[in-house]
Amino acid sequence: MNVIDIHDVWKTYRGGVQALGGISLQVPQGQIFGFLGPNGAGKSTLVKVLTSIVKPNKCQGTMLGMPIGHKPTLAKVGYLPEHARFPEYLKGREVIQYVAGLSGVPKSRARVKADELLELVGMSDWANKKMGTYSKGMKQRIGLAQALVNDPEIVFLDEPTDGVDPRGRKEMRDVLEKMRDQGRTVFINSHLLGELEMICDSVAIMDRGTLVTQGSIAELTAKSQRIELDYQGSLSPDLTQRLHSMGAESAQQTLTIYQKSIPEVQSIIDALRKEQVTIARVQEVRQNLEDFFISSVSTEGVGGTQN
Ligand SMILES: Nc1ncnc2c1ncn2[C@@H]1O[C@H](COP(=O)(O)OP(=O)(O)O)[C@@H](O)[C@H]1O
Ligand SMILES: [Mg+2]
Repeated sequence: MNVIDIHDVWKTYRGGVQALGGISLQVPQGQIFGFLGPNGAGKSTLVKVLTSIVKPNKCQGTMLGMPIGHKPTLAKVGYLPEHARFPEYLKGREVIQYVAGLSGVPKSRARVKADELLELVGMSDWANKKMGTYSKGMKQRIGLAQALVNDPEIVFLDEPTDGVDPRGRKEMRDVLEKMRDQGRTVFINSHLLGELEMICDSVAIMDRGTLVTQGSIAELTAKSQRIELDYQGSLSPDLTQRLHSMGAESAQQTLTIYQKSIPEVQSIIDALRKEQVTIARVQEVRQNLEDFFISSVSTEGVGGTQN
């Protein structure tokens, strides 16, 4: 089931910037979904459309089965905005209770909820310290906790790991996995690819207001799958010719066979062995998401507007 199923979403801001140019997106229930793309691609705008903060020029489809813009549906949605800041003089626990109050959670329930959430994000020991004393990673963990006060079915996290150090990012990934294990759909905006690859079940890649591609990481990188085979000695012209006809390219003692798996290259190995060629290494290689991303989006878009 898709918790988000939208098509033909358009947004042009006053002043004429077209942030979304006809987006269609399906987000499966209960997954960690990575919404990726360079800065300025339109990721935050789409999340703001889904959370009714920004009014689209056009938007078809549903979230949790209801049309986009249906206010009561937002009670089932959590949100950590990009560059979210909470008052430095509040304690971590107070931030969570304050947000709980805003979403209509009764006071007694809010205390219990805050304890649960502080535990979930690993901040119980710091709950009574002020936000001003926290590291960026700790502040973001409070940010994750406050996004869960209303027990949402979908949680939108806009660049949650931005400015967080590597250890903090690892801790944050653990929390995101816990959220998924609770059955929530976790929708993460990010311009950082490498760290999402490990935890996202599926991704969509945006560039300049349009969707470049979407699918599971395995699906997206499958096209780049290849086998590399190192050999020793030289190949006769006749064998080289035959290997070419079998789809293998040779260069400097390495054969590359594109879009094939290990079982599918056994006939090539047989042909080499028959000619007494020594095989030194056979390996399956896949492009990682970062390389895929770079090759999918225009070079101008990538790195052009880093913050
Ligand atoms: N409130 C706004 N008014 C005008 N232009 C905006 C506004 N918000 C975003 N934009 C522009 O829309 C485009 C997409 O922005 P955004 O959705 O924030 O992208 P991302 O989150 O992928 O970095 C950018 O060109 C940005 O400058
Ligand atoms: Mg953004």
